[in-house]
Amino acid sequence: MSTPAAPTADEVDRLRDEAVVAIDAAVTLADLKQVRLDHSGDKSPLALANRGIGQLPTEDRKDAGRLIGQARGAVQQALAARTAEVEAAEEERALIEERVDVTLPWDVEPVGARHPLTTIQEHVADIFVAMGWEVAEGPEVEAEWLNFDALNLGPDHPARTMQDTFWVSPEKAAMVLRTHTSPVQARTMLDREPPLYVICPGRVFRTDELDATHSPVFHQVEGLAIDEGLSMAHLKGTLDHFAQAIYGDDMVTRFRPSYFPFTEPSAEMDLLCYVCKGRPGEVAACRTCRGEGWVEWGGCGVVNPRVLIACGVDPEKYSGFAFGIGLDRTITGRYDIADLRDLFDGDIRFTQPFGVEL
Ligand code: PHE
Repeated sequence: MSTPAAPTADEVDRLRDEAVVAIDAAVTLADLKQVRLDHSGDKSPLALANRGIGQLPTEDRKDAGRLIGQARGAVQQALAARTAEVEAAEEERALIEERVDVTLPWDVEPVGARHPLTTIQEHVADIFVAMGWEVAEGPEVEAEWLNFDALNLGPDHPARTMQDTFWVSPEKAAMVLRTHTSPVQARTMLDREPPLYVICPGRVFRTDELDATHSPVFHQVEGLAIDEGLSMAHLKGTLDHFAQAIYGDDMVTRFRPSYFPFTEPSAEMDLLCYVCKGRPGEVAACRTCRGEGWVEWGGCGVVNPRVLIACGVDPEKYSGFAFGIGLDRTITGRYDIADLRDLFDGDIRFTQPFGVEL
């Protein structure tokens, strides 16, 4: 291996300056490692220069040794200073990027609130289950026959137009979005033998515009009782109990004559207005019942024998009653909610005040 040449003073300065520039340019600890090898390692230009001193005339060696020694000292200092800076910066970065905020809450995810339509359906189910009834279900996409024909609403029955129907394509499939929960009556009678005591809460669909008081999707709860010797009196007693369980012991219902093809006789049922309770002096100014003293709650009646026959129940042996109430208006009326759409918007600020129970 050839002996390295002795450097001039200018060259030593240049080597030192190059080293310092490279050191200052180092950004990461890895950069610094490389710079240290290049400029202060055994094979660095200054180390090689140091080895060349031996070639100089004796009288020049001392100065050359001092010059190179100072240059190497300056490089060491620059390395130490830059290392301290880079280490501090890396630590700073790690503190920020790898920060774990131990104070961050981990278990306070907003849990939302149960929707009043859910809680009222469960409340109604509880009331009836407590009387020994069962909860039945049916599909929302329903056979035309079950939604209409089985309920004594033949194809040309004028009452079909009372229920503006969403038809499901293709037309020949004869399927509809159920316009009421009453097809569950037919399903239950076709499926099982009396005695039957069932309720069915659920979604129903009609081609109504969506506005403050109408919605194409709304909710009903259907009730059906089939047994020996059931009459309109049992219907009235059941509905009074139902209304009192929801609105309190002083609640009463009243029947108004009405017509449904699947019940005979049929009635509209009203609740005593739960705000003014029909009290003289208050009723006239009551906004909830608009001065009536009563608010509409639903339809009901004694099951038409034609429906019993269509659904395989012997009308000589059994009779029954049925009712259907609207849940959405029950809620908007009860809580004085002016806009029905609030029920369907899914805004958590609406559901939250209802808490867990209706
Ligand atoms: N299905 C009727 C409606 O949607 C309500 C009803 C149910 C009436 C049961 C009588 C008996 O309007």
